[in-house]
Amino acid sequence: MDKTSGAWSGRFSEPVDELVKRFTASIPFDYRLAEFDIKGSLAHARMLRHVGVLSDEDLKSIERGMVDILEEIRAGRFEWSLDLEDVHLNIEKALTTKIGDAGKRLHTGRSRNDQVATDVRLYLRDSIDRVQAGLRACQTSLLDLAEEHAGTIMPGFTHLQVAQPVTFGHHMLAYFEMLLRDHARLADARKRVNTLPLGAAALAGTSYPIDREFVARELGFDGVCENSLDAVSDRDFAIEFSAAASLIMMHLSRLSEELILWMSPRFGFIDLADRFCTGSSIMPQKKNPDVPELVRGKTGRVFGHLMGLLSLMKGQPLAYNKDNQEDKEPLFDTVDTLVDTLTIYADMLKGVKVKSDAMRQAAAEGFSTATDLADYLVKKGLPFRDAHEVVAQAVRAAEGKGCDLADLSLKDLQVFSPLVGEDVFSVLTLEGSIAARNHMGGTSPEQVKAAVARARARIK
Ligand code: ARG
Repeated sequence: MDKTSGAWSGRFSEPVDELVKRFTASIPFDYRLAEFDIKGSLAHARMLRHVGVLSDEDLKSIERGMVDILEEIRAGRFEWSLDLEDVHLNIEKALTTKIGDAGKRLHTGRSRNDQVATDVRLYLRDSIDRVQAGLRACQTSLLDLAEEHAGTIMPGFTHLQVAQPVTFGHHMLAYFEMLLRDHARLADARKRVNTLPLGAAALAGTSYPIDREFVARELGFDGVCENSLDAVSDRDFAIEFSAAASLIMMHLSRLSEELILWMSPRFGFIDLADRFCTGSSIMPQKKNPDVPELVRGKTGRVFGHLMGLLSLMKGQPLAYNKDNQEDKEPLFDTVDTLVDTLTIYADMLKGVKVKSDAMRQAAAEGFSTATDLADYLVKKGLPFRDAHEVVAQAVRAAEGKGCDLADLSLKDLQVFSPLVGEDVFSVLTLEGSIAARNHMGGTSPEQVKAAVARARARIK
């Protein structure tokens, strides 16, 4: 390529070094912005026509040319050139080759700086919509599981020690709440993504009589960026998205960790559908929960992208700097990882087979109704701290006998407190324990069913 091939080459006396060309080019990754770039260019061209800077014929040529280019890109026939550095110059050059001078007029009153900021915002807005749809799909799967298992008893854990019985439905609803907040965070971030940088030009604005509100309306932005220097330089909206993405992955990583544990034969609480697992090349008995493990692993790269983007911004003086070109790969990878993860997860949750017998047995084995016994004694008049001590002794005795609290006889229990009566056995059962937690946010089957019904309405 000769030295005058770039959009700026007239100023230079020698061609760019080959390695420098590769080093500075973004086309290997920013070609993915093509559709948004064309959308943005068309809105800009229509505005230029609207304010009388472009003629009607020029606009028509640009529109026609862009239709062809878009078609070539979609069909995979468009030839991206490294010499043209990035997606913006590639498309502009193709347009000029097709339609001549009208193509050269497109860049009037605009810079790649406000152009790329606009493209990234359009891309991110679209990506947020896709991620939100993925979240909703996962939430629906969680609600279906919760509804089906509103009365399925499992041990609830603290410190990964059996604590109190809960229902599996209740456990699934905990994740529903996390994803609900994640969805709301994205909705909030989207508001700040959805403002228009175009019009900022390189950094100071432009001397053409542009109509930025016109462009904003064309592109579905809620408004325009108020300050041109800020508009071209900050990528805080991408960092904010990245932070929200990290929280989503953190939540899914926690659920993954649980699925992995639960699928281990030591727990044996669930089974995952075969299509989400793989075998071992050496151990024929193995069925590994690869998908949740990978989700847990991929969480690390999404966190890494957040750190990368934060570090990318922190030392930049106003306004645009080439550093910002480095925002794209982490952003694209974050979106790809999230969308894939959420899509697979929504489907994988549908295929979770719950082994309710094993869950129930584990809940029955861990003295999980000890708190219920203490509450029972409190209701009979014993101060809670004393009740706590009485039950601790009873647990020790049961442990010594190798049985559960409910397996002790009335006589055995009365050794620890004369307040214990025949009615104690109804509170020592797992069913009694979960049914007693019958308030908003509690684990009783009745509450879980009500919570599912409310949740369905909340995501409508
Ligand atoms: N490829 C660049 C980016 O991604 C586009 C803007 C370049 N502007 C400039 N003056 N070099 O940020």
